[in-house]
Amino acid sequence: MIQLIRGFKDILPEEIDTWKHIEATAVALFESFGFREIRLPLVEKAELFQRSIGENTDIVEKEMYTFSTGGDELITLRPEATASVVRSYIQQKLYAPDPVRKLYTIGPMFRRERPQKGRYRQFYQINAEVFGVDSPYMDAQLIYMLWTFFTRLEISGLTVQINSLGCPACRPAFKAALSDYLTVKAGDLCTDCVRRLDKNPLRVLDCKVPSCQAAIIDAPSMTDYLCDSCARHFGTVQAALASENIPYVLNPRLVRGLDYYTRTAFEIQTDALGAQNAIAGGGRYDMLVEMLGGPAQPAVGFAIGLDRLAALLMQDRPVAAKAPDIFIAALGAETKDKTFAWSCALAAQGVRTEIDFSNKSLKALMKRADRTGADHVMMVGDREMAEGAVILRNMRTKEQTAIPVDGLVDHVQKYLKNQESKT
Ligand code: HAM
Repeated sequence: MIQLIRGFKDILPEEIDTWKHIEATAVALFESFGFREIRLPLVEKAELFQRSIGENTDIVEKEMYTFSTGGDELITLRPEATASVVRSYIQQKLYAPDPVRKLYTIGPMFRRERPQKGRYRQFYQINAEVFGVDSPYMDAQLIYMLWTFFTRLEISGLTVQINSLGCPACRPAFKAALSDYLTVKAGDLCTDCVRRLDKNPLRVLDCKVPSCQAAIIDAPSMTDYLCDSCARHFGTVQAALASENIPYVLNPRLVRGLDYYTRTAFEIQTDALGAQNAIAGGGRYDMLVEMLGGPAQPAVGFAIGLDRLAALLMQDRPVAAKAPDIFIAALGAETKDKTFAWSCALAAQGVRTEIDFSNKSLKALMKRADRTGADHVMMVGDREMAEGAVILRNMRTKEQTAIPVDGLVDHVQKYLKNQESKT
């Protein structure tokens, strides 16, 4: 049998209602905050990601699915959505009517990471990006929106970690101080981090290898190097979060795995999923739009990891699929034409209808009805047809009601409304 590819997974019907509940919650909430949806291609030119995420990041160095299309062009299955949203903001001149744009997008991303629980090679994100606003209140409002989203989903055990990564004015001094510190510790660092030392010393700060974690205990913190304007910005973000009672934690080691960030960076972590504990992450990227050839517009955003969030909800309170409103148990060949027509009409009217077209016994049909979880069963046999009335059985109360065959579809709808008002 042909199996699916390692690191990829199927999202099964048993999980899909949980996924849809998450998506619907996000859409309703984000739209209240003024966001509009954008849908973008799953592939872009490789260069877009190389330039935005950064050449010396894990994603670009080793995790991208990049293909040649025959000519010199290399295309990449998107490893994240931010770069694509920025590309579209620039290319489609989304800034022209008003530079302030709030966009969200939902869909799959691809990274060739080492697969493990909570880490897939195709995974799904809900992204939200805001362009044209440099106010720290925007950062705080995004985090507030995220927090409200998780509260609506009744997810507990979360922490909000925040840091500031400074700007091109203040980061170089921090980078230099960090490099000096790490050079002395080079003997304690893993081979990856020794390599990072030169090109991207910030990445050493979130290396998970224990010897690296020990080595960075006394490393300098970006927050001690912030210029006045970055420090004020970060101060306002924190004050605004505190005023809304968002329980954030300052994490000076939070650097994120993508190079485009400036100033505020944040991550939402859970204590319920093991090693892959980040369920959302984001931050400011004030230089990226201009760097990719657009107008100098600041930006801030985040992405929620849908797979991890769905796994959390599936553990605690999965959302069940809706059972059929009615199961039609048709007995005997003579009833088939009628029950077929009724089932079509009922479903077309929006009544969730299930029918068994086989010639099973009443006992077997009731068993199937039970398995589908249907609330009501319509029993139709030759006798019922002759008498001009069918029996509707409420599977919970076991109450039975006779319904005239004439105008049956209307009668069933009235019956279901009636039953609903009783519960
Ligand atoms: P990121 O931290 O790389 O940020 O990803 C955001 C979230 O996607 C993570 O917190 C995690 O929940 C989920 N995620 C990432 N990789 C995997 C994986 N291999 N398997 C399952 N889930 C995964 C970004 O992608 C940025 N573009 C976020 C952003 C938007 N920053 C500004 N705007």
